Amino acid sequence: MTAGRKGMRCIRTAAILAAATLVLAVSVLSCSTLKTSRPLVPMREYEKMLVGSLFADYVGNENCLKACHVHDRNAAFLEKSVHGQQRVEGTGVPLVNCETCHGPGSEAVSADYINQNNQCDTSKFIPIRELPAAAQSLLCLKCHSAYSMVNVQFWQNSEHAMAEVSCPDCHKLHEGTRQKKQGREINDLCYSCHEGVRSQFSLVSRHPLPEGLMLCSDCHDPHGTGNPGLLIAADEKTLCGNCHAQAIGPYTFEHADVTDECITCHRVHGSMFADMLNYQEPFLCLQCHTGHTDFGSPSAPRAGVKQAFYTRCTNCHSQIHGTDTRGPHPGSGLTQ
Ligand code: HEC
Ligand code: HEC
Ligand code: HEC
Ligand code: HEC
Ligand code: HEC
Ligand code: HEC
Ligand code: HEC
Ligand code: HEC
Ligand code: HEC
Repeated sequence: MTAGRKGMRCIRTAAILAAATLVLAVSVLSCSTLKTSRPLVPMREYEKMLVGSLFADYVGNENCLKACHVHDRNAAFLEKSVHGQQRVEGTGVPLVNCETCHGPGSEAVSADYINQNNQCDTSKFIPIRELPAAAQSLLCLKCHSAYSMVNVQFWQNSEHAMAEVSCPDCHKLHEGTRQKKQGREINDLCYSCHEGVRSQFSLVSRHPLPEGLMLCSDCHDPHGTGNPGLLIAADEKTLCGNCHAQAIGPYTFEHADVTDECITCHRVHGSMFADMLNYQEPFLCLQCHTGHTDFGSPSAPRAGVKQAFYTRCTNCHSQIHGTDTRGPHPGSGLTQ
């Protein structure tokens, strides 16, 4: 997993708590209060972690950056990003600046410190990457509520939040002016943690992701969906039917209700068998059917070959997902 989820150093937290309660608390609470396997803590504890130093004041981007030119590049990126372009209505003041996320900066850029060390004191900022994942995400969620991004309402229960993946794990805000991945970059981002899935997409029969024609986000929403597996639809019939209408019907003669779940027969990412099937025919079908020889089939018996056992079932049962046409016998046989 990504960096920064080791033991959290609680110097910050401790300082805040200390200010709020007693100075005595500092030494006791530092460093070992939260263990590596972290229990859920009340939301206000995460909130406290994001307050920053109570002894510091907000000094504004200009003063921050003047004191520390190494961050000019970050500032240039931010300025041209969606974030930098947000202004407080009517005032023209930036809605999002360095201190919005990193906490008040006066201590970090204090003249004393800078004169001695020739750079700002980064230890005075909120140690974002050392906080528990839930606190890191809260940093973003204080603005990105479900009002602005509907699926965020499912974030807390998503597989990602529960596995301590945080918003900054995927949104590297200082890498450039873009604040989110686009196109194929999305697949690469997902592969960076889901290496096993990459190999599924390199099998012979697969969805065309490697070609860049599809994205993981065509089927999954990394922010949560309320459906298992972060899937964007509640069931496969709907999900797969978005693009494969002919496979879902409805048909007069359906393959019972087996096609309700496409994964009964198909892999969803890729497979080593044609048509992304779980197994090759006839074995796929023989899981549920006994199969048959040439009884009553219009194409049989052929001369000299009595009782041939059919192996490629879909040569005849070609409408495997369903059909509106009755077959030669009482059922439809899914043959035409
Ligand atoms: C919207 C929130 C946000 C804003 C605004 C923001 N940062 Fe950050 N910053 C972060 C996060 C999150 C990280 C942790 C980066 C990571 O792990 O990818 C970070 C990391 C950093 C780092 C550490 C190394 C790096 O470059 O990735 C520096 C330095 C930094 N920010 C400076 C700034 C400066 C200067 C500004 C203002 C121009 C600023 N940040 C504005 C969220 C923000
Ligand atoms: C002070 C409020 C604020 C904070 C804090 C904040 N954002 Fe934003 N963010 C905005 C606004 C406003 C927009 C533009 C409107 C929108 O897309 O919802 C935005 C846009 C974005 C976008 C869309 C960019 C695009 O190109 O469409 C992403 C991604 C994003 N923020 C990620 C983050 C992450 C990750 C964090 C936490 C590290 C964060 N934001 C923290 C206010 C904030
Ligand atoms: C597992 C990776 C991942 C995580 C974790 C993640 N995001 Fe995203 N986010 C993405 C990707 C990928 C996109 C681009 C989706 C697209 O364009 O289809 C995106 C898009 C966005 C957008 C733009 C939405 C839009 O409609 O264009 C915002 C805002 C955003 N994320 C905020 C957040 C916030 C806030 C969090 C934490 C609660 C978060 N993200 C966590 C991967 C992630
Ligand atoms: C920072 C690492 C990271 C990134 C990046 C990431 N994931 Fe995950 N993802 C995880 C972890 C950890 C889990 C929970 C453990 C698991 O099930 O593998 C998870 C779980 C999932 C699950 C649920 C798995 C299940 O068993 O139900 C899906 C689906 C998923 N991620 C899709 C995506 C997609 C799509 C992207 C790209 C937009 C993405 N992930 C990016 C780390 C990541
Ligand atoms: C065509 C739709 C589709 C696309 C595209 C897709 N997935 Fe999935 N994915 C699914 C479905 C459906 C499941 C549930 C499968 C199951 O229950 O067996 C799933 C399951 C998963 C799982 C959990 C099970 C496992 O195999 O580990 C992960 C993780 C995952 N997908 C990640 C990804 C990533 C990463 C990408 C992009 C590289 C991606 N998916 C692209 C439909 C899709
Ligand atoms: C976003 C659209 C989209 C979704 C959703 C989608 N598919 Fe596909 N599917 C495609 C495309 C595009 C192809 C490639 C078609 C081609 O090569 O002619 C494809 C091909 C296939 C193939 C044939 C593979 C081959 O070897 O020719 C199967 C089987 C398949 N999909 C099953 C599924 C299943 C099952 C689901 C639901 C889990 C699903 N698809 C969801 C777009 C989608
Ligand atoms: C009973 C097993 C079974 C189930 C369940 C099933 N399929 Fe299929 N599917 C097949 C077989 C077998 C083929 C190959 C057909 C052939 O070779 O004529 C196939 C082929 C496909 C193809 C590629 C050929 C075409 O028709 O375009 C797609 C796409 C597809 N299935 C989608 C789906 C979707 C979506 C679902 C779920 C709604 C689903 N399948 C459920 C057995 C199944
Ligand atoms: C998961 C179990 C399952 C699998 C796998 C499966 N089937 Fe079926 N199939 C069924 C069920 C259940 C019925 C309905 C039986 C009934 O109504 O008596 C059925 C019905 C049929 C029928 C008769 C349809 C009719 O109404 O006359 C045919 C033909 C058929 N399947 C062929 C196949 C073929 C060919 C395959 C392999 C590509 C296959 N099945 C795979 C479960 C399955
Ligand atoms: C040469 C063509 C052909 C092949 C190949 C074939 N079948 Fe059939 N199958 C038929 C015909 C014709 C029927 C009768 C259809 C009807 O009832 O309308 C039938 C009927 C069935 C039925 C329905 C039986 C019943 O009692 O209603 C099932 C199930 C079935 N086949 C499964 C399979 C399986 C599994 C395979 C592959 C092992 C297979 N078939 C290969 C032609 C074929």
